[in-house]
Amino acid sequence: MAENVRVAVRVRPFNDREKQRKASLIIDMRGNSTYIKNPEDMGAEPRSFAFDYSYWSHDEFKESANGYLEPTGGRYADQRKVFNDLGQGVLDNAWKGYNCSLFAYGQTGSGKSYSMVGYGSNKGIVPIFCEELFKGVEAKKATAGENEEYQVTLSMLEIYNEQVRDLLNPKSIAQKGGLKVRQHPSKGFYVESLVSCPVSSYNDIENKISEGTRNRTVAATNMNATSSRAHTIVAITFVQKTPNETGQSMTRTSVVNLVDLAGSERAESTGATGDRLKEGSAINQSLSTLGNVISALADLSMGKKKTVVPYRDSVLTKLLQNALGGNSKTIMIAALSPADINFDETLSTLRFADRAKAIKTTATVNESPTDKLIRELREENARLMELLKTGGITLEQLSANAGAGGQNPNQDSSEEIEEMKKAMEEELRKNQEEIENMKKTWQERLAEQENENKSNVDAELKKQEEKKVIPHFWNLHEDPALTAMIVHFTREGTSKIGNKNASPAPEITISGLSIQKQHGVVTNKGGVVKIKAIDGKILVNGAKITKETDLHHNDRVLFGPNHLYVFHHPQDEAKNFKEGKVTETPTYDTAQEEIAKKAGFMDKAGKSEEDLILQEDVIQMLPMVNEADAMSAELDKKVKFELALVSPQARGLKGGKTEVMVKMRNLENGNEWLWDRNKFINRKFLMQEMYQNYVEGADDWDVPKEKDPFWEDADVEVLIGTVHVHLMSLSHKLDIEETLTVTNYQGKENGHIEIEVMPCTPKGESLGEDDFLDDPKELVGKELNFKFKINFGRGLPSNMRQSCCKFKFYLDNQYTSTAYGDGMNPEYKFEKLFKFPKCSQEFVDYLMESVAVIEVWGKQKDTSSKGGATLGSDTKQLMAREKSNLGDNKQTPVKKKGGNKAADSNKDNGVIIPVPPPPAEKKQNDQQVNAYKKQADDADRRAKAAEQRAASSESQVSDIRSLLTQKKRGGADTITIAELEAMLGGGGGRSTTSTAQKEHMGDQASKACTIQ
Ligand SMILES: Nc1ncnc2c1ncn2[C@@H]1O[C@H](COP(=O)(O)OP(=O)(O)O)[C@@H](O)[C@H]1O
Ligand SMILES: [Mg+2]
Repeated sequence: MAENVRVAVRVRPFNDREKQRKASLIIDMRGNSTYIKNPEDMGAEPRSFAFDYSYWSHDEFKESANGYLEPTGGRYADQRKVFNDLGQGVLDNAWKGYNCSLFAYGQTGSGKSYSMVGYGSNKGIVPIFCEELFKGVEAKKATAGENEEYQVTLSMLEIYNEQVRDLLNPKSIAQKGGLKVRQHPSKGFYVESLVSCPVSSYNDIENKISEGTRNRTVAATNMNATSSRAHTIVAITFVQKTPNETGQSMTRTSVVNLVDLAGSERAESTGATGDRLKEGSAINQSLSTLGNVISALADLSMGKKKTVVPYRDSVLTKLLQNALGGNSKTIMIAALSPADINFDETLSTLRFADRAKAIKTTATVNESPTDKLIRELREENARLMELLKTGGITLEQLSANAGAGGQNPNQDSSEEIEEMKKAMEEELRKNQEEIENMKKTWQERLAEQENENKSNVDAELKKQEEKKVIPHFWNLHEDPALTAMIVHFTREGTSKIGNKNASPAPEITISGLSIQKQHGVVTNKGGVVKIKAIDGKILVNGAKITKETDLHHNDRVLFGPNHLYVFHHPQDEAKNFKEGKVTETPTYDTAQEEIAKKAGFMDKAGKSEEDLILQEDVIQMLPMVNEADAMSAELDKKVKFELALVSPQARGLKGGKTEVMVKMRNLENGNEWLWDRNKFINRKFLMQEMYQNYVEGADDWDVPKEKDPFWEDADVEVLIGTVHVHLMSLSHKLDIEETLTVTNYQGKENGHIEIEVMPCTPKGESLGEDDFLDDPKELVGKELNFKFKINFGRGLPSNMRQSCCKFKFYLDNQYTSTAYGDGMNPEYKFEKLFKFPKCSQEFVDYLMESVAVIEVWGKQKDTSSKGGATLGSDTKQLMAREKSNLGDNKQTPVKKKGGNKAADSNKDNGVIIPVPPPPAEKKQNDQQVNAYKKQADDADRRAKAAEQRAASSESQVSDIRSLLTQKKRGGADTITIAELEAMLGGGGGRSTTSTAQKEHMGDQASKACTIQ
């Protein structure tokens, strides 16, 4: 009978960062209902959703002595409660012979792994399920007759970027393109040669799952992969062979799929900036297809006929076709973040879960006489053999073999025949294996596996023991589930650190981005441990080391851009403990924060909520920028990435938050692009894909520039800077004619533009002499017409090919844009007549208090080398040259290709602080940090100066106004230039005024104003 997918949601506690910034709670639960409030409108009625279960795990709990989180109030749902509600049902159904599936959905960090696998003593559904399953098996076995048998096998796989990796088979992890997904005519999709391990106890399962997680961690770090984008499936096959009432052996099979999905955070729309590569990227095809499949299934269950369910569009949905719409009892658990800033994601998770409720599946008991199963397999094999033997497979036969949904029989391609042949051979092999397995006793299979496991298990046990006495590194990973999975010992004597290509093999092998053959070396002399970098980069406690450095308990060590470890020294730890010096165990976040701090970030940040969120963004983005830079160096892409903190004003906005953006600079021609965070994250994922192909040795790793994530079209407009036009004069119907400075996001002057604003008649004719307004309030209810002119730009950056100005005036929704002008000194010759027939109070206030922001956008010259040809320098050399330019302001001769070491990226010239961290010498390091500080301070000073200028021009306007009033009252109808000059700063100009403005004021002063 068809039944609905059961859906549970669960909200986690605030994490440390959320507590620190005093995040607001936006989730509430009552009974089975979940409510969510929009943080922008906390007073409004919350949205409500009803589910089978709504689990409150946010508060009302305490940590017991063994670390287990237990309820202190009636509200808290602990791990046991969740298992009792969800896991127990899965277990019961597995015993009955139903296939079961359990999915965890939600954004990264929302608690998927916590519910599925759990941490430490807070075991999740998977381990409790396994524990209970074996308890049941043991109980059955105690009373079992001779012909009864209970078999449990386990497989564990990961889908990353549409590739399947067998986590229990490390060899397959390195396999190019991953394992093949094939289709069986009756059984559906399966993964070719996936390892399925017989297990005999909970301990066995636990060992296997840790082994899989370790393999996953190594692969993720070495391949520089974003682990939150991987789907992990643990599949447990439970087979019961029992005689029925007539004594015939029956086989009852249940496949239990436990699925920890990739983080659901959307690769959000990149907004106005857009990105040509967004459409093409399969950032998470499996996850988006899952959404489509669920929508289609929900439509079907609502009675919408003719809905096509797109299972075939992704690997995940192929493999989970049964779980989603077929023979399975299915449960989904949606993990929710309680914090305000996750509102959009959490709402989207709730909507997803809401849709999933509608899906129906039809589970049947998988039970057949054992003989029959064997017979069927044999028959099938005989048929396949026959087909293959005759050699001449016809397309009809093939399509018959492909079964429903198979290939189009008219598609005559030898390649396809070949492919089908392979599929059949594989199927044959699989059947044969199954027959073999059936012939073998279960005991034999277990013994075989145990043999295989033995060395692994022994090694693991030994490692656990050694960790207690030998100093070692343990890994920190962004994903807490992958933390502390890798251990490297620093035994007495010397341990070389290097990649897998080093010969002889180093004692500590780490591989991946920017890890050198001879990366560094660690020495341990009677427990005194020291580390030294050789060809690679090593950071200890956030700072790059340049000489042999002592290692202490809980020190943080970073190899290359992304291998982060904590040093554990058991004897030091004991000593510290005795002396009462307890050092905090580092976390991924604290270690990254330290790196960001040492690189000069965070200095200026305060403790406001906004600053803390910005800091979080910096901590998240900095390692990614480092990795992108390292990939550019290795793939010789001639671009460099830097983190940039960009204020809303610099983005042309009047208000809002400072944002973390990423600047990509072409090292050959100096062209720059500023990417927003989402665009960078998307691009970085594509860079990883390219890098992975490169590492795997694919010939076609490099792609045409249109598809290259490191390439940006010079035609993409970049923001050169903004200018602010104060409108107060306009409220007096006075002309504005000014040459204004174009300031970029770093506060750097990027040229000037000349503008004019001239009040006029509705037809654009100049106003009469009597139109000056003494008091802007007089404007309310009256008309105002003016011409807005942008005449030209001067001294724009030399790499600009074309530029234009864009602005929004008052309540405009759309930008008004000038035509393009060419080169450094463009002529815009722009003029627009604005008409306001009846000025409102708001409009007059706007004129008096606001500024019009003009954004200057440009297209850069395209002078980069084409098609991978170089200009004689590779990326590492260009980066190194840039670095030395900053260090001593001298050009350093470029070293020969291959002769230089992994380059640092250290130059910058503004508020943005470059990555990765400090340069070689301590002195140079300090110099550099000081240089950055100075640059940041300069930018600050410039911003202040601009403010002062604005204030001073406002005060000038008000001075003029009072002078005019005074004169008018006195009966005078003119003021002299001298009088004006005296008032505008004694003729000497103001120190804060730029040259251009001074010249301009001279201009203005030379005109006499006529008043009435
Ligand atoms: N119900 C919960 N109770 C306590 N801590 C939780 C809970 N859910 C998640 N956490 C904590 O939140 C962090 C992120 O959870 P995790 O399960 O790793 O997220 P995900 O797998 O969705 O990325 C972990 O440190 C985890 O311990
Ligand atoms: Mg997880």
